[in-house]
Amino acid sequence: MKFFVDTADIDAIRELNELGMVDGVTTNPSLIMKAGRDIKEVTAEIAAMVDGPVSAEVVATEHDQMLKEGRHLAKIAPNICVKVPLTWDGLKTCKVLSDEGTQVNVTLCFSANQALLAAKAGATFISPFIGRLDDINVDGMDLIRDIREIYDNFDFKTQILAASIRSANHMKEAALIGADVATAPPNVIQGMVKHPLTDAGLTAFLKDWEKTGQKIL
Ligand code: E4P
Repeated sequence: MKFFVDTADIDAIRELNELGMVDGVTTNPSLIMKAGRDIKEVTAEIAAMVDGPVSAEVVATEHDQMLKEGRHLAKIAPNICVKVPLTWDGLKTCKVLSDEGTQVNVTLCFSANQALLAAKAGATFISPFIGRLDDINVDGMDLIRDIREIYDNFDFKTQILAASIRSANHMKEAALIGADVATAPPNVIQGMVKHPLTDAGLTAFLKDWEKTGQKIL
């Protein structure tokens, strides 16, 4: 499973990228607001740093304007993936941009039928939002499972990009189901390293090592 980082925080992306943990980046208008940066400037910086798709989202809601925005964003760098919402106008925009050879991430997906439409419209990625479904007491992982089955049934090439990931457990479940990609905030990716038995084991080893009176260097 590929790891995308869900942030526009350059320092956080850099740190994970140096560890080889970054296969791509996703941003959205809320994340751009949080970063407090100009969208074109920060997206260009991220795209130059990361060797993989960098999603930048349109904010128009009507097809013609969405298309203009999408084409504009796509010019920022060759690895820009234009993000469009899962609306009828978004699907129209997805089709045109995909036909032009631009990568498209169809976002705000909350049903298998929406995912089916996005695949038909030629989306590179479909972003089902796990956490936001969990928030309304619907199991977000069931959606990932359904989309995986439907895409496999018909050999759709659209990649499942599990989004709105809130925990390390979400990462594990998405990987078990076979999501192609998971996008998560930096703290969730870093949280995957944690295990109490690792910490306890390390403490015990260091205590015994001290008793030997030895030094490695
Ligand atoms: C990803 O592309 C989405 O922008 C993101 O995962 C949304 O996450 P949230 O529901 O935690 O805001």
